[in-house]
Amino acid sequence: MPPSEVDSPPFEGFIGSCSRMKELFRYIRKIANSSATVLLLGETGTGKELVAKSVHDLSPRATGPFVRVNCGALSESLLESELFGHVKGAFTNAIENRTGRFEAAHGGTIFLDEINSVSTAMQIKLLRVLQEQEFERVGDSHTVSVDCRIIAATNRDLAELVETDGFREDLYYRLNVLPIYVPPLRERREDIPELVRFFVERYAIENGRIISSVSLDALNFLKAYSWPGNVRELQNYIERAIVLADGEELNAELLPQQVRGEAPIRLGRVEKSELQSLCAELVSRGLSEVAEEGSYHEAVMGIVEKEVILQVLRRCQGTQTKTATKLGINRNTLHKKIDDYGLQDEAR
Ligand SMILES: Nc1ncnc2c1ncn2[C@@H]1O[C@H](COP(=O)(O)OP(=O)(O)OP(=O)(O)O)[C@@H](O)[C@H]1O
Ligand SMILES: [Mg+2]
Repeated sequence: MPPSEVDSPPFEGFIGSCSRMKELFRYIRKIANSSATVLLLGETGTGKELVAKSVHDLSPRATGPFVRVNCGALSESLLESELFGHVKGAFTNAIENRTGRFEAAHGGTIFLDEINSVSTAMQIKLLRVLQEQEFERVGDSHTVSVDCRIIAATNRDLAELVETDGFREDLYYRLNVLPIYVPPLRERREDIPELVRFFVERYAIENGRIISSVSLDALNFLKAYSWPGNVRELQNYIERAIVLADGEELNAELLPQQVRGEAPIRLGRVEKSELQSLCAELVSRGLSEVAEEGSYHEAVMGIVEKEVILQVLRRCQGTQTKTATKLGINRNTLHKKIDDYGLQDEAR
């Protein structure tokens, strides 16, 4: 492969050309050849499944099966028989022998999604498969050996779960041989225009529509939003906008309120990285709203101040005295700012 292609996407529909994604693509190519276990980490909707599929497709196992199991969607007993299979009579509904997903993945790759949600008893069984590549079907004493590569994914921090929630440390280390972190969309905003183009084209075709452009303000809102649901959220909003569009342009009115910056951003318990991305969003919202001759600093400070007042007002159920005290400003100043920012409906 020419050196210029090592950091290109593993397949056409996998979008990404920022440096973090290029690094990810390079890493996928590097590890695809081995059979070592891969642990995919990253928030929901970042593309972990696409990474798992890419690792399989680029590996020598590509001609073998790629089997996905969502460990979070099944109860413990169902998961056990799904993964390992069972023999007739093993439990009430076991009316015939059934091979499990590990056997189905023989010669290929098994993708264990949402590994963070498996019970402690199941973790012990998985540990054995990882160590010895063997197991027994439910209700059977015969040992089955399989050759499959394991890729696991989690959208929770497994190291933290080891500390707090009893995820087994030995299993964690067995899984964490080749960790891959898929970065959230807010940390790779350069890719947003390309993702938008890709999804617009896909959903226009799917819905028999012609969308010839995306308006500048729509694109600016999309670039500035914090994307807690990552690429999946972006994909859904584009599909919705295309279904709702009347003309050939995808404009800002077709985007949900929170993307247009009209609904407030939720402030629950915030992590430092979230706070940083919230600030980045407010700043870029300010930057995109500023008039040509206006001052960026003023626009950004205004937008940040409005958001902070709104959030504190809500936390104080609209009580102005309490809000002023929390903000460390006097009541008259607060009153004036509430008027300036049009927050009267939130205040009592
Ligand atoms: N870089 C990308 N290019 C194109 N489509 C993407 C990209 N990343 C994600 N998607 C799309 O977004 C959706 C979510 O991706 P995926 O299912 O891989 O996320 P995930 O990380 O597995 O999320 P979860 O933790 O919720 O399972 C899919 O429809 C996928 O095709
Ligand atoms: Mg997934």
